Amino acid sequence: MTTARIDIIRPDDWHLHLRDGAALASVVAHTARRFARAIVMPNLKPPVTTVALAEDYRQRIAASLPAGARFQPLMTLYLTEATPAAEIERAKASGSVVAVKYYPAGATTNSQDGVRDLARVYHVIEAMEKHDLPLLLHGEVTDPAVDIFDRERVFIERHLIPLQARFPGLRMVLEHITTRDAVAFVSQAPAQVAATITAHHLLLNRNALFEGGVNPHYYCAPILKRETHRAALLQAATSGDPRFFLGTDSAPHVRESKESACGCAGVYTAHAAIELYAEAFEQAGRLDRLEAFASIHGADFYRLPRNRERLVLERTPWTVPAEYPLAQGSCVPMRAGKSMAWSIVDG
Ligand code: DOR
Ligand code: ZN
Repeated sequence: MTTARIDIIRPDDWHLHLRDGAALASVVAHTARRFARAIVMPNLKPPVTTVALAEDYRQRIAASLPAGARFQPLMTLYLTEATPAAEIERAKASGSVVAVKYYPAGATTNSQDGVRDLARVYHVIEAMEKHDLPLLLHGEVTDPAVDIFDRERVFIERHLIPLQARFPGLRMVLEHITTRDAVAFVSQAPAQVAATITAHHLLLNRNALFEGGVNPHYYCAPILKRETHRAALLQAATSGDPRFFLGTDSAPHVRESKESACGCAGVYTAHAAIELYAEAFEQAGRLDRLEAFASIHGADFYRLPRNRERLVLERTPWTVPAEYPLAQGSCVPMRAGKSMAWSIVDG
């Protein structure tokens, strides 16, 4: 018998790009409809590097929410080589900033202000360890000599293992993991090391990039990997291990920036996020573990209360629009023009 209904604690998205201004206003309702909270990435232009900037951004998000929405943005700071250690203390005291994001300079969208040499921010990381503020890592090397499909594995070897040894008390989240190497690293690491997994990395392998021609809407960072890695991610997500939890990395770009000779990285999934995860868990025969991955593990890791509201999905197919508005343009979402198996039941 197949399940027709999924009834879970309202989930949270532990890794999300909401953008700003008109783009923010276009996308935030998709997330607020599904999730109670989301960790909002700070890679704006200019980046969100201080508690004051994060607080302003939080207010702009709140002002963009549809009337009546109950959604809490959880803010992050963008770590640069100029971040003072004192900013960490301010972040901890703020209550609104819950983590700091590390981008290797040049790794992805708006990462040019990121870190070139981790050693230059050791004093800031030390403050994070001391004040117990988690470090969220975009775990890829940018060394042009390293093959793009090996960037995550090499980051773990070169940077993550030494970082963990140097700061054993630091809480870290390896974001949007894409390889069995990352799964292995997190699985054997102590409890303060966790990882988020996106819906697109659970559902797609790198063939999607080239099916019938180049598909720029599947181009993201870290790039999709081969099937063995996707299988390892699905196994980890559905394992019940509390160190793995939901983070969509939903990253909207206007169509012209994706369908371009030098296209931007990012897959937009916020419009159907929990529904896509439900498909992945169903594929693994583990719908019973969706709630823990989507609604429990992340809250526990961040030491935030579990949500009290619930979210119900039913097996009613719907067709994803070919595009959604995004600021003055449009954005092509994952599954554009195709069918989704699960729908949210309004309640
Ligand atoms: O694909 C991605 N898009 N990966 C990232 O790390 C950043 C994101 C974005 O902001 O567009
Ligand atoms: Zn991201």
